Amino acid sequence: MKGILLAGGHGTRLHPITLAVSKQLLPVNDKPLIYYPLSVLMLAGIREIQVICTPVDVPQLRRLLGDGSQLGIRLDYVEQPEPRGIAEAFILGADRIGSDPVALVLGDNIFHGHNFYDILQRHARDIDGCVLFGFPVEDPSRYGVGRTDAEGKLVSIEEKPSNPRSNRAIVGLYFYDNDVIDIAKNLRPSARGELEITDVNRVYLERGKARLYDLGRGFAWLDAGTPESLLQAAQYVQVLEQRQGVRIACLEEVALRMGYIDAEACHRLGTRLPSSDYGAYVRSIAKELA
Ligand code: TTP
Repeated sequence: MKGILLAGGHGTRLHPITLAVSKQLLPVNDKPLIYYPLSVLMLAGIREIQVICTPVDVPQLRRLLGDGSQLGIRLDYVEQPEPRGIAEAFILGADRIGSDPVALVLGDNIFHGHNFYDILQRHARDIDGCVLFGFPVEDPSRYGVGRTDAEGKLVSIEEKPSNPRSNRAIVGLYFYDNDVIDIAKNLRPSARGELEITDVNRVYLERGKARLYDLGRGFAWLDAGTPESLLQAAQYVQVLEQRQGVRIACLEEVALRMGYIDAEACHRLGTRLPSSDYGAYVRSIAKELA
């Protein structure tokens, strides 16, 4: 399976913060926002990832993450000149996706929860159609909302419904079989001029090939698209990391635990960050798992 991390967009709800810097590079407690969605793809076992971003952000993202080889993965940067919609990712990324299935994660989404590795591994396998993930929210009318039958098959999607029939928001992580490329190529832009991910999901729904896995209330799904949600995400991460002494979305740790790099390489990465607690954590994990 190939991965796409969508890190473009103008981040207008965060202006003026994002006038000169990509939203995905903003800090969420101790690390840049993009670490969180990248860790999700890595945990799903995906090692070939396209980072889709605005042309102006490529140099900074590359400075942060390079070609990914230090983490035992491959990162390619693909330019999206204008934010023409989430589904455009499959058109921009088509060549590198080839004939594989693909996972897409939004660059400003943060996931944290028990057994996430198992959930990802289970759903990334043998994809036939698409797998979407649902999360209960207080205000479903702000999101795409999904309803399922008893077997987890998706039976309806409503986009920002005024009278939601379910409180399950569809989160920014999607697994698709290779049909997604053709589906995206045949989409028409919506009224707001974007290729909508909801329209992709509707095609799978009509074909009876969409599943929705409920992440459930024991899970955390946050996005960082507004000043409030960015601060809340940082607070959530800060509280958990300090209390538990573990780090959420430490890429070096994920790479080591997934077997993408060995303990020595992990330790070396930690020594590049000699003055931060994050760097000390990377070195301690490398020693622990050596
Ligand atoms: P949004 O939050 O919908 O858009 P945005 O990041 O530009 O922010 P705003 O609404 O404040 O203007 O996007 C969700 C994620 O998807 C975010 O990480 C940016 C990314 N994205 C793209 O990379 N390309 C796109 O065409 C769109 C619409 C979003």
